[in-house]
Amino acid sequence: MSSKLTEQIEVDLLLDAMYRNYGYDFRNYARSSLMRRLDYIRHKSGVSHLSELIPLILHDESFMNRLVLDLSVTVTEMFRDPEFFSELRSKVIPLLKTYPFVKIWHAGCATGEEVYSMAILLQEEGFYNRVQIYATDINQESLRIAEEGIYSLENIRKFTANYNKFGGQASFSNYYFAKYQMAKMNENLKKNIVFSQHNLATDHAFGDMHLIICRNVMIYFDRDLQNKVLRLFNDSLIHRGFMCLGSKESIEFSEQREEYEDISQKWRIFRKQLRRDTPNGLD
Ligand SMILES: C[S@@+](CC[C@H](N)C(=O)[O-])C[C@H]1O[C@@H](n2cnc3c(N)ncnc32)[C@H](O)[C@@H]1O
Repeated sequence: MSSKLTEQIEVDLLLDAMYRNYGYDFRNYARSSLMRRLDYIRHKSGVSHLSELIPLILHDESFMNRLVLDLSVTVTEMFRDPEFFSELRSKVIPLLKTYPFVKIWHAGCATGEEVYSMAILLQEEGFYNRVQIYATDINQESLRIAEEGIYSLENIRKFTANYNKFGGQASFSNYYFAKYQMAKMNENLKKNIVFSQHNLATDHAFGDMHLIICRNVMIYFDRDLQNKVLRLFNDSLIHRGFMCLGSKESIEFSEQREEYEDISQKWRIFRKQLRRDTPNGLD
C-alpha cells in the first residue's frame, strides 16, 4: 500500500474522530493547506504518524482544544484591505442607513479586529446605535481574545496605518487606551457586539441579517463546504441583504451565483438579487 494512501486513510480517520466526538467538522477543508497544518501538529506533538493523534483526540479534550487552535488560521488585522472598508462605507452603509435597525454578522471573526473596525466605521457614520453585530468563530480562544479587545502596540501601529489608508475621520488613538506594550479597545465599541461560538460547517443560520461579512474563511474550505456555507448565508440574509467575502474568495462557480448582483467585484461585495420569477422582480 502506498504511503500516500495510508496517510489519506489516517487523515480521514482523524477528521472523523474529531467530528464524531466533538462536532468539529474539518472534513471538507481544502486538503493541501489542512495537510500542511496537520504535519506541523504531528511534528509539534512528537509523533511519527497522524493516526497516533487519534487516541489523544478521543481521550484528551485539552489536546483537542489545542488542535482546533492550530488547525484554524487566525491571521487578521484591523481595517484589513483598507479599500474594502472604504467601499463598504461608500456603497453599502448609505443603503443600510435607510433601515430603522440593522443586523450584521461577522462569520469567522477570529480575534476580533475586523469587528472593531466595523464598530469604528459605524460610529464615525453616526449609525452604530441602530446596529446589532454578531461576531462568531469556531475557535473559542480567538473569541476570548476578541471579547477582551486587547492587542499589542506593535499590531496597533499596523492597524493605525490601515485606518489612515481607509480614510478614518479621527485619530486611531482615540479608539484605544494604551498601557505598557498593550492597547485595550474602548469599551463603547463593544456595546452592540455579541460574541459567540458558531461552526459554519455544522451550525444553523442566523436569521434576518442585513449584512454578512465572511472574509478569508471559505478560502480554507473545499467546493462542497463553500456551497453549503453560501446556502447558509443566503438563508440568513434578508431580501436585498449584502454579503462580503475575502478578495481571494469567489461565488463565480457556486450554486448561489444567480442569487446575487455585484456591488464591488474587486472587493467581493454582493447584494441579494431581486427575484426574477416574481412579477416586477418583487416578492
Ligand atoms: C484567517 S481568519 C479570518 C479573520 C477575518 N475574517 C479577516 O478576514 O481578517 C479565519 C477564521 O475562520 C475561522 N474558521 C475556520 N473554520 C471555521 C468554521 N467552520 N466556522 C467558523 N469559523 C471558522 C478560524 O477560526 C479563523 O478565526
